[in-house]
Amino acid sequence: MEKYTIEIPVRKFRLNELSDEERFWIDTAVISAKQAYAPYSNFYVGVVVVLANGKIVTGNNQENIAYPSGMCAERVALYYAGARYPDVPVKAIVIIAVKDGVVQKNISPCGACRQVLLETEVRFKQPFQVILGGSDEVFIIDSAEALLPVSFKEF
Ligand code: THU
Repeated sequence: MEKYTIEIPVRKFRLNELSDEERFWIDTAVISAKQAYAPYSNFYVGVVVVLANGKIVTGNNQENIAYPSGMCAERVALYYAGARYPDVPVKAIVIIAVKDGVVQKNISPCGACRQVLLETEVRFKQPFQVILGGSDEVFIIDSAEALLPVSFKEF
């Protein structure tokens, strides 16, 4: 038997250690979170997808009374980016969550969104940064693949 350990490199930054551009992305994700349609969970998620052509695409969660019909913010944003700019690689995705008006700490994308993040890297054949925002600290992972180790891949 051989044993393997998988490590996920995560860097933690205080907001004041980020660039103005990165802080702008975070502020934009917070605005987008507050515009989410989340009357059932009251958990408002906002996303900024940063594209290689310099454009940004925002998204937020869209819920439905038939719960499974709703959609997470990450997939709303990535699917829109894919629909609008099908040939433009993603450079980064910023994810923010707001509950009771307060930006949440230690947020993390759900499993289904991780699969879609990974597909985006596969599609454009390049990794992108995943920036998990918080009120005073953010976590940066340099590849979506790191968030889904031992993932399902094409055989
Ligand atoms: N949600 C997201 O938008 N992204 C995630 O990665 C996890 C969860 C949404 C789905 C639902 O509208 C609400 O947050 C509560 O789960």
